[in-house]
Amino acid sequence: MIYNLAKKFMFNMDAEKAHDLALSSLKKTANSPLSCLYSQNLQSAPVDVMGLSFPNPVGLAAGLDKNGEAIDAFAAMGFGFVEVGTVTPRPQPGNDKPRLFRIEEAEAIINRMGFNNHGVDYLVKNLMAVKSDIIVGVNIGKNKDTPVENGKDDYLICMEKVYPYASYITVNISSPNTPDLRSLQFGELLDDLLISLKEKQSELENKYHKYVPLALKIAPDLDDQEINQIANSLIKNKFDAVIATNTTLARKGVEGLNNGNESGGLSGKPLTDASTLIVQKLAVALNGAMPIIGVGGISSGHDAMAKIQAGASLVQIYSGFIYQGPPLIADIVKRYRSCI
Ligand SMILES: Cc1cc2nc3c(=O)[nH]c(=O)nc-3n(C[C@H](O)[C@H](O)[C@H](O)COP(=O)(O)O)c2cc1C
Repeated sequence: MIYNLAKKFMFNMDAEKAHDLALSSLKKTANSPLSCLYSQNLQSAPVDVMGLSFPNPVGLAAGLDKNGEAIDAFAAMGFGFVEVGTVTPRPQPGNDKPRLFRIEEAEAIINRMGFNNHGVDYLVKNLMAVKSDIIVGVNIGKNKDTPVENGKDDYLICMEKVYPYASYITVNISSPNTPDLRSLQFGELLDDLLISLKEKQSELENKYHKYVPLALKIAPDLDDQEINQIANSLIKNKFDAVIATNTTLARKGVEGLNNGNESGGLSGKPLTDASTLIVQKLAVALNGAMPIIGVGGISSGHDAMAKIQAGASLVQIYSGFIYQGPPLIADIVKRYRSCI
């Protein structure tokens, strides 16, 4: 009810202005009496993944709270975990505006934000100030002006800085909005990156006496051979999890619609089946070697269960959450509890 009112107001605004307003309101109201406007007390639906105990399997996907501004507010909504970022070593403005577009008829979004964020040091300050005990994943990336052949250094810098404060770390090599980033998903570049990250992980584990799992986030725009190669590389390098998927370059389901031919990554309902198929193929290729976190077009408990039946252990939501708000978390948790 409250979300529907807020949505009516915000969907009349420019998409990015609405996003910024919502996030700053959540930041201001977190841990205050006003948080009752969005707080939900959900029944627990515990699940253990990557050595972590999640109160329920529903996470906020990366990109909504890039700088970790409103983690406590998302915790109050009942999310089982929150993934912040993508964060880069240095602050960067992202691409020119407008860069965020709703496609309401399709319950979809196209974005070409380009990793706009305040940099890893700013994020770390916010992580240090979190009051709730929610599981927080930190999604890391490279700066736009770092050549892709040096991209590894950016991931290592971010990893080193966030390691003490992260429950898990996601390595994002699948955004379509940073030139050449997706080339890190393939061949020697991928192997080389994963080897270095694992070395850094064991160095930091010794330093902090804490093992922080590493997850790789992949694109939906992959053929079968590419999925198998990525799975082999993840297994060989003993990665802890994989997140499937990021946004797609495809435009199926939004052709001819207003904003449907904007450039960038498409998310929301048109992505549902494509990303579930990737989860399913990954599950076969990984054969239980590591957990999968399913994300892409989840807009109901039914969609979430399809990801779980395809092989995901946890799910994340972004676009569905924009269109439906906190009730979507409750719907998924309820459905999950009735199915387990
Ligand atoms: C506006 C916007 C910004 C995003 N930014 C990021 C990001 O910074 N890092 C990332 O890994 N994924 C990012 N994503 C992708 C989401 O985390 C998610 O993988 C994708 O949107 C598919 O899920 P959905 O259909 O539930 O939105 C972004 C998505 C949107 C819509």
